[in-house]
Amino acid sequence: MRHFLTIADFSKEELLEILDLAIQIKAETKQRNFKEYLPKQVLGMIFEKSSTRTRVSFETGIYQLGGIGLFLSSNDIQLGRGEPMSDTSRVISRMVDMVMIRTFEHSKLEEFAQYSKVPVINGLTDDFHPVQLLADYLTIIEEGKDKDLVAAYVGDGNNLAHSWLMLAAKLGFELRIATPKGYEVNQKILDRALEFAKISGAKIVIGNDPIEAIKNATVVTTDTWVSMGQEDEKEKRVKDFTGYIVDTKLMSYANSNAIFLHCLPAYREYEVSEEVFEGPQSKVFEEAENRLHAQKGIMVWLDGKRND
Ligand code: CP
Ligand code: NVA
Repeated sequence: MRHFLTIADFSKEELLEILDLAIQIKAETKQRNFKEYLPKQVLGMIFEKSSTRTRVSFETGIYQLGGIGLFLSSNDIQLGRGEPMSDTSRVISRMVDMVMIRTFEHSKLEEFAQYSKVPVINGLTDDFHPVQLLADYLTIIEEGKDKDLVAAYVGDGNNLAHSWLMLAAKLGFELRIATPKGYEVNQKILDRALEFAKISGAKIVIGNDPIEAIKNATVVTTDTWVSMGQEDEKEKRVKDFTGYIVDTKLMSYANSNAIFLHCLPAYREYEVSEEVFEGPQSKVFEEAENRLHAQKGIMVWLDGKRND
C-alpha cells in the first residue's frame, strides 16, 4: 500500500504514470464519460485548515469515480477537541477506503499515515502541498511548457516552494527560487532536493533576486506571502516582501511566451498584480481545474497499489 505524502516518496516514472492516468481520466470526464474506477469507495477528508479548491476537487473527484467524500472539519470531529491523531487514524481508516488530510505540522500527517489501514493523501501541510504540484505540472504539460522547462518561483519559501523543489528535483527541470532574506526554503528540504537533483539532472538555483530568478523563465509562479496559520505576521511580512510582487515589469524579464501559475487564493497587489493575474499569460483557472483531474489520477493510482 502506498500513501501520497510528499513528491519525495515517488520516482519520476511513478509521477509520470500518475499524470498519464490523470490525462486519460480528464479526457474521459470531458466527454462526460464518468468511469467508476472506485465504486462505492469512501474518501474521508479531514480539514484542520480552510479550503475551497481542495475540498471541492476531492469531493467532486471521488464522486465522479463512483465513490463518496466525507467532509470532516476538525471543528466538528473529536480531533479538534484533542483526540490523538493515532486514535483518529485507527478509527477512521477502519471505516473508509482512503483518507485526505489538510493539517499543520507535517509530522501529524505522517503520524496519521503510520496508523492508517488505507492510503493517505496530503491535502496540504505547513511543509508541503504535493497534490497542487501535480495539478500545476499537468497544466504545464497541457500548455506545452514541459520541454526545456525553466520555472521561477518568487515569494515565500513555504510549502509551495518546497513542493516545487521536490517536483523539479524528481522530474529534472530547472527551478529558480527567489525569496526575501529570512524567508528562504527549509535547508533540510533543500538538501534533500539537491540529492535527488544529482540523479535527475535538475538545476536548482536559490537566491534573493526576483529578476535573476525570472530571466528567461518559461513558467513563473508565486504564492501568498501569508500562509494559513501566519495571519499574525501579516504586517511584518507585507513589509519584508516589498519588491517581490509579480507584476508586468517583473514578468517582462521572463520568456515572452511564459505562463503564470498561482495555486490560489491569490491576493492582488501583494504577491501578484491584477494585470498579471487577469492577463493572457495567466493560466491560474486552468491550473485550479486541474486539481480535480490530477487528484483523480492520484486516487486511482493509489487504489491500484493496495495489497489487501
Ligand atoms: N490551492 C489550494 O489548495 O486551495 P484551497 O486552499 O482553496 O484548497
Ligand atoms: N501557502 C499557502 C497555500 C494555500 C493553498 C498556505 O499554506 O496557506
